[in-house]
Amino acid sequence: MQLMLFRRCGKSLSSDIMTRLTDSHRLFIAKAGKSTSVMRAVGQEHIVRDISLHLLDILTNSVSAGASHMMIRIRTDQHKDLLTIRIEDDGKGMHPDFLKRVTDPFSTTRTTRKVGLGLSLFKEACEITGGNLAIESILGIGTTVTATMGISSIDRIPLGNTGETLSGLISSFPDRDFAIVFLNDQGEEEGLDTMDLRERLGDVPLSQPDVYVFVRDFIQEQQQNILGGI
Ligand SMILES: Nc1ncnc2c1ncn2[C@@H]1O[C@H](COP(=O)(O)OP(=O)(O)OP(=O)(O)O)[C@@H](O)[C@H]1O
Ligand SMILES: [Mg+2]
Repeated sequence: MQLMLFRRCGKSLSSDIMTRLTDSHRLFIAKAGKSTSVMRAVGQEHIVRDISLHLLDILTNSVSAGASHMMIRIRTDQHKDLLTIRIEDDGKGMHPDFLKRVTDPFSTTRTTRKVGLGLSLFKEACEITGGNLAIESILGIGTTVTATMGISSIDRIPLGNTGETLSGLISSFPDRDFAIVFLNDQGEEEGLDTMDLRERLGDVPLSQPDVYVFVRDFIQEQQQNILGGI
């Protein structure tokens, strides 16, 4: 696996979910065999503490699939009690047969281990709130992951700090483009697009530490402005 380390709250954060598990979770998964019900139980323990960490995994998948543009839309609909997170990429996509079983934890193209946890855990995190995870993919065109969650469900994990997730990815992959948009019921919308940012920065590279701090704080402020403390 690609061990990318991001800074979060002064600690290093790996993009690999497996490295964030406790030993008992790892043992549980190792013993799971092909049991998706065991994975379901693991998912319900909230080993991924917020949505921004699921976002990190989904975007890492996109980067691994060779995507050059990734678009994230995070929208609340209080009327329908729905939080929707949509991630679109222009990566290599998936074959329809693989797509059918992609949320099975034993579907992975990893060579380092036999389980791929990212999508299955995100699916579980959505379903326990009454929502779902839908994945559309066209080989050679790209993939769209749409997650919905019940906003008021007591089982919903918080959105977390999407600024840290995005700034970490942008500084690690300054040659790729990421765009994030927050939308709410009032029709308010704010976001950041690295294509615009690159133009504004001129010669200053996106990998610069000052840019990392600016992007992190800017996105987090927009998240707060539009979605509040969701
Ligand atoms: N955006 C994408 N484009 C193309 N293939 C994808 C994409 N997202 C996931 N995949 C495929 O689905 C597989 C399963 O993804 P998942 O995130 O569940 O596990 P993983 O990335 O293999 O491992 P982990 O998330 O535990 O690090 C990946 O190995 C990859 O082959
Ligand atoms: Mg993954």
